[in-house]
Amino acid sequence: MASSPLGRPTRGTTGTNRLRRNDRWIASAAAFRRAADPLVVDLGYGASGVTAFELATRLQRVRADAEVRGLEIDPARVATATAQLADVHAGRAPFPPDLRVSFARGGFEVPLPDGRRAAVIRAMNVLRQYDESDVPAAWQTMAARLAPDGLLVEGTCDEIGRVSSWIDVDASGAPQRFTVSLRLADLEHPSIVAERLPKALIHHNVPGERVHALLVALDREWDRAAALSTFGATQRFLAAVSALREQGWPVLGGKSRWRLGELTLPWAAVAPLP
Ligand SMILES: C[S@@+](CC[C@H](N)C(=O)[O-])C[C@H]1O[C@@H](n2cnc3c(N)ncnc32)[C@H](O)[C@@H]1O
Repeated sequence: MASSPLGRPTRGTTGTNRLRRNDRWIASAAAFRRAADPLVVDLGYGASGVTAFELATRLQRVRADAEVRGLEIDPARVATATAQLADVHAGRAPFPPDLRVSFARGGFEVPLPDGRRAAVIRAMNVLRQYDESDVPAAWQTMAARLAPDGLLVEGTCDEIGRVSSWIDVDASGAPQRFTVSLRLADLEHPSIVAERLPKALIHHNVPGERVHALLVALDREWDRAAALSTFGATQRFLAAVSALREQGWPVLGGKSRWRLGELTLPWAAVAPLP
């Protein structure tokens, strides 16, 4: 294991409920639900421990034995979150006092005690501030700390968590799926997510690339389904996603996910051209 954490401190912006869409994704993931050891890492949790507390609260509703380990490369942020955790345990915070959360210093090498491996590692808004060329090695290094059926979820969202996207990476470090998750109420166009694509895709949203074609098609079907707005934005999104599927886009999941404003495709459908 590296003697100093791998990576570099970046801006610590975070916020209450910012990662709720991503929490929900992890709570539904087989890698978490079926894990022998449901240990989930919140890597680069930022200036406050709030996203780790929220993640643990949501995961413990699914599995009482779920545990969250917050890792930060910035030691001052570990101290802040550790002080917040004392408030949680003392019942002075709006989280269950018995929340199974801990914090430590760490980077992409994902240090875990006792040789444990993570069921899920989530790294939201961390690689955004790195170069695209750093992404494959960061994925590989983090994925090496996963359980064999584990999942790395790496992505980006806006400050208030209405627009988000992430990539599922398997334990070999290979990207598997791409998900867009949007708050549908008041949504003008799904392509707003272009500003919040994961680092591996954001520079490829240009004509000729697959991710660009996807966002163009999604906007077009969203516009076509405008008449359904009278039945609500959810119906409009369902219609748009169904149309994409009919056109041959290999949309994954079903209506129960699409209703949430989620659209998931195999990585191959959006991967940058070689
Ligand atoms: C923008 S904040 C994101 C906070 C939170 N994940 C969120 O989405 O709201 C990025 C955080 O990642 C941390 N960070 C950057 N590189 C890291 C690395 N290699 N390992 C651990 N933390 C890292 C930074 O110190 C910073 O606090």
